[in-house]
This record gives sequence, C-alpha cells and structure tokens, in this order.
Amino acid sequence: MLLRTARLRQSFLRTRTFATSSVSCRNKAIVYRKHGNPSEVLSVLSFPDLPPPPPNTANVRFRLSPLNPADINVVEGVYPAKPSPFDLLSRDAPVYVGGNEGLAEVVQVGDGVKELRKGDWVVMTKPQIGTWTSARNVGVQDVLKIPSDLEEAQAATLTVCDVHKVNPPTAYNMLHDFVHLEKGDWVVQNGANSAVGQAVIQIAAANGWNTLNFVRDREDIGSLTGYLKDLGATQVATYDQLVDKGFKDQVKTWTGGQSIRLGLNCIGGRATTMMVRLLGQDAHLVSYGAMSREPLSVPTSLFIFKNLTCHGFWQSQWYSRKSMQERERLMENLVGLMRHGKVRSHGLRQRRELKLCTISSVAQNTKY
Ligand SMILES: NC(=O)c1ccc[n+]([C@@H]2O[C@H](COP(=O)([O-])OP(=O)(O)OC[C@H]3O[C@@H](n4cnc5c(N)ncnc54)[C@H](OP(=O)(O)O)[C@@H]3O)[C@@H](O)[C@H]2O)c1
Repeated sequence: MLLRTARLRQSFLRTRTFATSSVSCRNKAIVYRKHGNPSEVLSVLSFPDLPPPPPNTANVRFRLSPLNPADINVVEGVYPAKPSPFDLLSRDAPVYVGGNEGLAEVVQVGDGVKELRKGDWVVMTKPQIGTWTSARNVGVQDVLKIPSDLEEAQAATLTVCDVHKVNPPTAYNMLHDFVHLEKGDWVVQNGANSAVGQAVIQIAAANGWNTLNFVRDREDIGSLTGYLKDLGATQVATYDQLVDKGFKDQVKTWTGGQSIRLGLNCIGGRATTMMVRLLGQDAHLVSYGAMSREPLSVPTSLFIFKNLTCHGFWQSQWYSRKSMQERERLMENLVGLMRHGKVRSHGLRQRRELKLCTISSVAQNTKY
C-alpha cells in the first residue's frame, strides 16, 4: 500500500484543525513514541515548515510512501532493524516516524550540495529513515537520485538502502543469486500474490522463466488467477491443491517433466513443506518471509537424496554486503525493466486489511 502523503494530510486538514498548536502546520507525520500494537501506538503529528537545510543536506517532500508488513513489525518492536528518532519532533522524548521506503522530491538544498537540485526525485539509501511524513531533512549521502520519468508507485518501491522492504529488488536478487536460470526454466513460489511474489512473476516472465505460483484459496480465485497470469504467471494453483495425490503429475504435465531448481518461500508452515516436494535434484529453497507465522519443516530425505539446499534471504543484508556500484547496477536493471513496462506499478498493488485498519486507527489515535 502506498500512502500519498499530501492527500493524507489534506484529508485530515479538511475535516478538523489540530488544537495542539496555534501555528498553522503544513506538515504531518505518522509517528509513535513506544513500540506496540500499531493500531494503539500510531498517531498523526503536525509540524511547521522545515528550517532551511544545513550544509550538505536537502529538504525533501514525500510524494508516496509504501506501507509494508515489515513496517508494522518495526512499529511493534519485533523487527531487527530499529528506527532513529525524528530530531525535529523529539523535543522531550524520542518520537519515531514510521516507514522505510518512499519517493520524495527535493524542495531545497543546503550549501555544498552539488548532486541534487530542486525538483529531483530521490529514494532513501539510509534504512528506517521514517518516510510516513510529508517532509523531512536528509543527508545527501542518505538519498539516491532516480529518474523522474518512472511512475510514482514504481519509484517509491525502488529504495536502495538497507531496507527490509523493497519488493522488486528482493525478487530480482532471489531470482539471480541462487540458481543460474536458463530461458524456459521453472521457479515455484508461494505467497505469489504478495508484492514480492508479483515482482517475482514479472521479472521471471521478462527473462523467459516460467513460474508456478501458489496462493490461498478464496471466493474470487478465478479473478486472482487471471490477474497473476496477466502479470506473466505461467501457472497458478492453491495450497489446497498441493495435498491432492494427483497434483505432482499435473505439475509434471505443466513443466514437461523439467526439474524445478528454485523455490521461493514467503509463508513457511505446512504449505511450504508440501511445495518443497515439487523441487527437483540440486534445487535451492530461498525463504524470505514467514507470513503464516508457522515454522518450516523440510523432510530430511530431500537433503540426502535430492541434495536440496535451503537459504534465508534478507535484502538488508544484501545491501550491507554490496558496494555502491552493485547497488546502482541493481537499480539500473530494475529501472530498465520498469521503463520497458516489464515490471508494472499495478503489479505492486497491495490490499492488506491490516494496513487499512492501521491507517484508520491512526486517525482515531490522533488528538484533535
Ligand atoms: N527478506 C526480505 O528481504 C524481504 C523483503 C521484502 C518482503 N519480505 C517479507 O515478505 C513477506 C511478504 O511481503 P509483501 O510486502 O510482499 O507482503 P504483502 O504484499 O502484504 O502480501 C502478504 C502475502 O502473505 C500472504 N499471507 C498472509 N498471511 C498468510 C497466512 N497466514 N498463510 C499464508 N499466506 C499468508 C498473503 O496472502 P493472502 O492474499 O491470501 O492474504 C499475501 O500473499 C513479508 O513477510 C515481508 O516481511 C522480506
């Protein structure tokens, strides 16, 4: 989900005025003072215009800020990455601004800034900078200028920082770093309608790789299947189908008996155990999410007889281990895919009820 920060601000302003300050405050941020249930600890804080940027910094205005599952975990205090307090708001006690990714526009640069100009689009290169805000001051080294001819939603999810979130880079790296895939090869994944899963589908399709995609069953499974196939999914199936005895034969028919060498795991639990059985000789299973909150159990026989290798993947770690040149190359590859319409912004659509609940609770928690 993407927060259009200006619109959020306007909707609050349209209905009520904030009584906490007599100064008319142009800016709003979604903040928390302590970790906890997001629907209880998040609120909106207004703050006045930023002072002029100090040397080697820039004032930016956020255009779009994604809201991702891991952002919720950061607010809860259960995620390894920790935020730093927002200095401007932390007068008495620390105040943290939520959000890790975001697309911002430079509005003013400080002395000595040569890399950026007013109007440039930037994404954050510093993790947990706090992007659910309409404005903030950033160090020049904490942002990366990106082309402003991308769609906003694409640009907003391109963050090149440590980021736990950044779905297209996560998908891109998992598809490239573990198995050398040839045209026509197959990749199997679960959580296929997640933002990462949708990016996997599109990047794989752009490379001529087939995807077998698992999702939870639902009433409108036909429309979800159609949506994922429209993105480039080769086959879509539900976790329920995995328990059918004949399903393995069905998969063989789809793949023409070709061995599947890469599996991507977003959810863990029993459905993943079943999915792993579809992998062939010398395959790699890459786990990057645990949405079911259930542990992952993999039959020992697969390690012994099929030489299965299991990995964990964390985009944050990828960034911390890679040079700026490698990060920029990743960015160029993704921007290239987006420019050619291979990774579409609507493919990054998310519709999590939890997130919607969280946003409406933020409004409730706010003291007007
Ligand atoms: N390791 C990394 O570097 C990295 C990077 C990015 C994301 N992630 C992780 O990847 C996961 C997905 O992130 P996202 O932003 O792509 O999420 P998202 O778009 O919000 O999608 C969440 C997905 O999880 C599924 N899901 C939720 N609860 C489930 C359950 N109990 N059982 C089975 N499936 C369930 C949803 O399926 P339904 O539609 O059926 O609800 C949906 O497909 C998260 O855990 C996130 O933290 C990790």
